[in-house]
Amino acid sequence: MKKLWINELKENDLLADQIFLVVEKATPMAKNNKQYMTLKLSDKTGVIEGRMWDNVEKYNNFDQGDFIKVTGIVNSYRDNLQIVVKHTEKIDGTDIDLRQFVQSSEFDLDEMVETLFDFINSLEGKYIKKLLNKLFSNAYILESYKMSPAGVKLHHAFLSGLLEHSLSVTSLCNKMVTHYRDELDIPINRDLVIAGALLHDIGKIYELDYEKGFKYTTEGQLIGHVVIGYQLMNDMANLIEGFPYKVKMHLGHIILAHQGRLEFGSPKTAMSMEAFIVHSADELDSKINMLKNNIPYLDDKNKDKVWSPFLKNLDSNYAVNSSDDISKLKDNDIIQRRRYLELENGKIKQSKLTEKDKKQPKSLF
Ligand SMILES: [Fe+2]
Ligand SMILES: [Fe+2]
Repeated sequence: MKKLWINELKENDLLADQIFLVVEKATPMAKNNKQYMTLKLSDKTGVIEGRMWDNVEKYNNFDQGDFIKVTGIVNSYRDNLQIVVKHTEKIDGTDIDLRQFVQSSEFDLDEMVETLFDFINSLEGKYIKKLLNKLFSNAYILESYKMSPAGVKLHHAFLSGLLEHSLSVTSLCNKMVTHYRDELDIPINRDLVIAGALLHDIGKIYELDYEKGFKYTTEGQLIGHVVIGYQLMNDMANLIEGFPYKVKMHLGHIILAHQGRLEFGSPKTAMSMEAFIVHSADELDSKINMLKNNIPYLDDKNKDKVWSPFLKNLDSNYAVNSSDDISKLKDNDIIQRRRYLELENGKIKQSKLTEKDKKQPKSLF
């Protein structure tokens, strides 16, 4: 049977032996004491939920990270499609092309690698350039850096997400150096910023396992990418004769401080201009990616939506992306905008909120 991609599925589609990657699996107990199965299944076009209500014990022979053949029917539940699974068959995933079953970066891989080496070639310091070339001439490191996601769920959680995110952070950093150093005349060491940006998350190549779905490795759980990356950079620098201790120390600080806060896994907060730039670019890039993935767009399906659901990691609701069609905003939203404008112009000194207004999330403006 022809492969049906998740983003093409419609209600009532029948699936016969369709292969998916199992991203999540649980077998909870229903109120009537009957076990059922909840699944998240993926292919390169997306993720869909699955439910198996009958014969769960018989088919409970696979796990998260396995490839399975699914037979069932597509249903709509609370406006979302899900597969009601009739039966499953675990298959050997050895010969399966992972890129067909996991989402990948939209950018061309070869072009991204070229950009990586363009940044490395733009470094001026002899030792720092040698360090980056040595790291990325290691076939295992380069291949992992090209393939790895940057996260399991939060941001850039797709194949080559680490490379895409690292290049985006480096590009932002490069622009910040131009702005602050070249235009505002603030002394900044570009080499440290660019090398720090490229290496800030390199520890993720050992922190995350992407072979069968995305998950943390034991090393990732016990040590974490910040310290793994610091160690990797140090180990490589120690192999280069005469590598200046100051450069190693400062680059190490940028890697250790990039998460910005102790509770986010950084053993140090940023204590240099270069570390602060890398941390700021990293925070901005990861948050923009989270917003991009979580804010609904004002298309036909979302025409009545004004707010995204509460996004726990960003600690707020966000307005739907209405940049291209503001006419679709609801009346209530327009009233809130007008109230803001009136306040701005000093027309209203005190704004009385109605009970209905109070239920709305805080104004964005
Ligand atoms: Fe990080
Ligand atoms: Fe990062």
